[in-house]
Amino acid sequence: MEFQNYINGKWVRGKNTFQTINPANEELLAEIAQAEMADVDAAVHAATEAFKSWRLVPAPLRGELLFKIGDILKQKKEELARLLTQDMGKVISEARGDVQEAIDMAYFMGGEGRRLLGYTAPVEMPNKFGMAVRDPAGVVGLITPWNFPVAVPSWKIFPALVAGNTVIWKPSPETPAISAAFVKVFEDAGLPTGVFNLILAPGVEVAKRLVSHPGVRVLSFTGSTLTGRAIGETAARLNKKVSLEMGGKNAIIVMDDANVELVTDATLWAAFGTSGQRCTAASRLIVQKGIADKVKESLAERTKKLRLGDGLDPRVEIGPVINKAAIDRIHNFVQMGQKEGARALVGGSVADVNGKEFFYSQTLFDEVQPGSTLEAEEIFGPVLSIIEVNSLEEAIEVNNRSQYGLSTSIFTQDVNRAFTAMRDIFSGLVYINHGTTGAEIQFPFGGVRGTGNGHREAGQAALEVFTEWKSIYVDYSGKLQRAQIDNREEEM
Ligand code: UN1
Repeated sequence: MEFQNYINGKWVRGKNTFQTINPANEELLAEIAQAEMADVDAAVHAATEAFKSWRLVPAPLRGELLFKIGDILKQKKEELARLLTQDMGKVISEARGDVQEAIDMAYFMGGEGRRLLGYTAPVEMPNKFGMAVRDPAGVVGLITPWNFPVAVPSWKIFPALVAGNTVIWKPSPETPAISAAFVKVFEDAGLPTGVFNLILAPGVEVAKRLVSHPGVRVLSFTGSTLTGRAIGETAARLNKKVSLEMGGKNAIIVMDDANVELVTDATLWAAFGTSGQRCTAASRLIVQKGIADKVKESLAERTKKLRLGDGLDPRVEIGPVINKAAIDRIHNFVQMGQKEGARALVGGSVADVNGKEFFYSQTLFDEVQPGSTLEAEEIFGPVLSIIEVNSLEEAIEVNNRSQYGLSTSIFTQDVNRAFTAMRDIFSGLVYINHGTTGAEIQFPFGGVRGTGNGHREAGQAALEVFTEWKSIYVDYSGKLQRAQIDNREEEM
């Protein structure tokens, strides 16, 4: 297989190629045309030209194109899901969910083509009218991670397009094959030339060029905190709008009245789904002392049984992690945890699956101390840390002192505790009696503190990132009416 860059409506080869491998078997999946600096410039040029006409296409028609994209994604769901699993490693049922999230987003944002709501408000002069409308921002640059190679890009691409922006997308070099296959859908739907451009490249240089290019007005990034901050700094110097979605250290809080079986089901899914490589993955289990032993026993027993392997095998529950560097990083955290006195109830080592190197065994740590590395740092792997607390207040306090604030869930059957938690948990997402993953696209997605910079993706909130407000005043009085002055009769 071979995949190329997509610039100004053409698939483009370069001088060089790079490779993507299937993390489950380490075999070559595809050769990828490597974009150079000049390709970024060409893409920005194409997007700038295309913006001139795309911004004038009536938004309902832009929305119809998204419906068409949704339809094609639906037809190709299985094919795309299989390629996604091969490129990224997640199990096939989750890959289908990844594609489904993009289908949902295409239809949701397609509908925005007939909304993109602005507003009118009364004005203070007679024979005058005021309104605020959403203008597209212009050319936008999108940089996305490998863990949700279809869903997360769709959260950025579809709102950007329906609002009338033109796009340059730089996906992770870990998942270029599924990225290019996704873009093929846009081409098949008939998106006009230059409106959408794809840049594939390893390393940081090409991404840096996109971030600092003067022709790019808005940047939207999902990925590591370190990279996000660097993008934010560059964007600030260049006066660009930038939306950042970064790390998480998500917690499940378990109160002593919780249903242990439900807690176990939900925790396994939230902690070990996608091999723990979701920004919403549960990484801490904050459990009240009265129920702690029962929860640990139930979790340990079920955690051990989870089956690792190639995600294309429908019996497999946990796939590989993305690459060898991830294995080393995860194992390093595990070793640090052990040094700090935490106790591994399950796992704690690199797993051997058919002699392949990219599998980490699902790991459950007990006796994790507040402030320790395991408690504080995002691991992005199948590692869950258990922290015991005495009360709801202490649980919320432990949750809120994290440097991140993306997703928190609480298990309780007491409505008073649930509402107190809903009010006092400082996270962008809160779940009651459900794990920390599984956000739906019609609601805002994003986090507080170190997770983000105050923007939200998905829902109508996404439009704030990709539009600029324009306030319009129409005076039909035929004379000069000075606002704030001429309507103050007593002062005249
Ligand atoms: C991510 O991990 O970056 O809520 C996104 C969820 C998914 C999206 C996760 N719908 O877990």
